[in-house]
Amino acid sequence: MNSIKVLKNLNKKMVLLRLDLNVPLKNGSITDETRINKVIPIINFLIKEQSKIIIISHVGRPKGRIITDLSLKPICENIEKKMNRKIRLIKEDIFKLEKEDLFEDPNDQIVFLENIRFYEEEEKNDTNFAKHLAKLADLYVNDAFSCSHRAHASVSKITEFLPSFAGLQLETEIRALKKVTSEIKKPITCIIGGSKISTKIGIIKNLISKFDNLIIVGGMANNIIKYKGNQIGKSIREENCDLMIKEIFETLKNYSCKIIFPDDVLIGKNLDDEPQVKELNNIQDNDIILDIGPKTLDKIKSIIENSKTVLWNGPAGYFENPNFANGSYEIAKAITKKNKNNSLYSVVGGGDTIALINKIKLIDSFNFVSTAGGAFLEYLEGKELPGIKALS
Ligand code: 3PG
Repeated sequence: MNSIKVLKNLNKKMVLLRLDLNVPLKNGSITDETRINKVIPIINFLIKEQSKIIIISHVGRPKGRIITDLSLKPICENIEKKMNRKIRLIKEDIFKLEKEDLFEDPNDQIVFLENIRFYEEEEKNDTNFAKHLAKLADLYVNDAFSCSHRAHASVSKITEFLPSFAGLQLETEIRALKKVTSEIKKPITCIIGGSKISTKIGIIKNLISKFDNLIIVGGMANNIIKYKGNQIGKSIREENCDLMIKEIFETLKNYSCKIIFPDDVLIGKNLDDEPQVKELNNIQDNDIILDIGPKTLDKIKSIIENSKTVLWNGPAGYFENPNFANGSYEIAKAITKKNKNNSLYSVVGGGDTIALINKIKLIDSFNFVSTAGGAFLEYLEGKELPGIKALS
């Protein structure tokens, strides 16, 4: 993997910079800026080297359609303020763009392309789309570790058409995760939560051989609760996962790893509701599972207490409503309390989990904070990530 740091003389070179600016947005405002703050160093580096920067990112999952709420506009404006310089957001159809259209004002050094997932070709890793993107620049930099598990055109295919380099944050993340996985101390607990069930459920089976405890919370736990014969009312779940869950439980028989999922939950009738504790056999058709219950929380705390390493990705509940944030907050507190006396090594990853620990000002109390969620888990799984492979 070639580092952008070794390249000198970028004078006026056009750099296609792939970032992951997939930050949480609420009514057009950014609710957590961590992912943006982490890429300011690469932008500064490229500016210092006098290059012209074309920023590419996605936000959300528009699935090839133009969705105004998923415009990069607020993110572009945020970086504009942070960098204190004008940044144009180019909304024109990428297929119609030519290199010379990008920098209208010769003094400009940064432009943004609109959400790259507005083009269905992006997720298809389309060769023509990648070729067209490549025509806009002289070289390509990937500083988006958190979406390097996606074989998408602006992450993977593009590297076939431009000299390609690893960005500063991507290198930092890989270095840190390599260290974690090679020097890891047992017992190791991995906590997986959040709402991106489809992304993560397939990964669990492959993590069983690596860890002592796998704690499944958040939306993903709903599939297991249902598989075990309980009702989950209107809670989020993924269709057609039963076979995968069956395999998870089959695989568990061959290892000493324990899987822990909720024994009790907090439900609401809607996302703004007050919490109500429920046992799994008492969930009604109009209930929504929105957090873990007190019994489950006690169990998790005691596992954390007996662990030497904790890796955490994905909140335990719908923390956007403080009524359902307790499970996640208490997990964060239990980990960081043990961190303080150095009796635990902790790694936390993922956009929502970062937003959550930022909210309670615990972000500096973990040993390592990765911007990546799905990519972080796939890296732990031992998989070669398509975006990283493409740089090699
Ligand atoms: C993330 O937030 O994990 C990355 O931006 C990837 O997003 P995705 O799961 O929608 O591909």
